[in-house]
Amino acid sequence: MPFSDYRTALVTGASTGIGAVIVERLAKRGLEVHAVARDSARLDALAGRTGCVPHTADITSTEALAAVVSGLDIDVLVNNAGVSRTGNILTADEFAVDEQIAVNLRAVLHLVRLVMPGMVERDLGHIVNIGSIAGVYNFGGNTIYHATKSAVHTLSRQLRVDGFGRRVRVTEICPGRVETEIFGRLLGDREKAQREFYDGYESLKPEDIASALEFAVDSPRHMNVGHIEILPTFQVPGGLEFERRAS
Ligand SMILES: NC(=O)c1ccc[n+]([C@@H]2O[C@H](COP(=O)([O-])OP(=O)(O)OC[C@H]3O[C@@H](n4cnc5c(N)ncnc54)[C@H](OP(=O)(O)O)[C@@H]3O)[C@@H](O)[C@H]2O)c1
Repeated sequence: MPFSDYRTALVTGASTGIGAVIVERLAKRGLEVHAVARDSARLDALAGRTGCVPHTADITSTEALAAVVSGLDIDVLVNNAGVSRTGNILTADEFAVDEQIAVNLRAVLHLVRLVMPGMVERDLGHIVNIGSIAGVYNFGGNTIYHATKSAVHTLSRQLRVDGFGRRVRVTEICPGRVETEIFGRLLGDREKAQREFYDGYESLKPEDIASALEFAVDSPRHMNVGHIEILPTFQVPGGLEFERRAS
């Protein structure tokens, strides 16, 4: 459904990175945008720039999520907030497992549970899940992140089944590397992350992801854009390894 059919949106992880740019884009297209994150100062600045409605909330709290959406009819739900931590399953600590599941998956499930029934009832809505190439490809690194994003991938397809017969659309966007704060948060050192992950690379920008979302949301009513994979031109997923036995 084109933007003219929608009045409201809710974006998680709105204080910076991809989420902040999505808020700007949706507000520019005339929607009342509810912006959710923990950093209230940044949300207030975003509200000043875009007119969005800021909601300071930790999305690992289901109670807080319910309070945010209470009384709202959300037409466009953007599950964008996400965290990544270092370590595969051999090295990860307890917090890495719990936080990534809580932010990347549990909050997504709860928000959809809270918002989608209204969309089905109104016969109008669009859910956009920001997944990752980590959800569809295997490569070395953060196993828990892969697992949560893979769940978001399956969920995105399953929601189409749950909304069958109603005008509720679902889009999953799977980016490769985007220049944001995510790696700085992961390493706890933004300058190191800049050097390791971004300097010298032609990474995607948050605007690239917002443009993909805009395309999906603005497509005509009869069209559901299900899955969008976007990578930097110089980034390629995949590869196959085969180790000789040790003895
Ligand atoms: N950057 C990449 O290379 C890349 C690649 C593929 C997929 N993605 C996905 O893209 C999405 C956006 O990531 P980004 O790169 O823009 O990351 P980012 O710059 O680190 O921003 C993350 C956002 O999530 C919010 N957030 C984190 N924990 C939260 C919590 N407990 N409660 C509420 N908000 C929380 C942060 O806000 P507060 O700290 O203010 O709460 C922030 O607004 C994520 O789902 C990520 O997995 C990113």
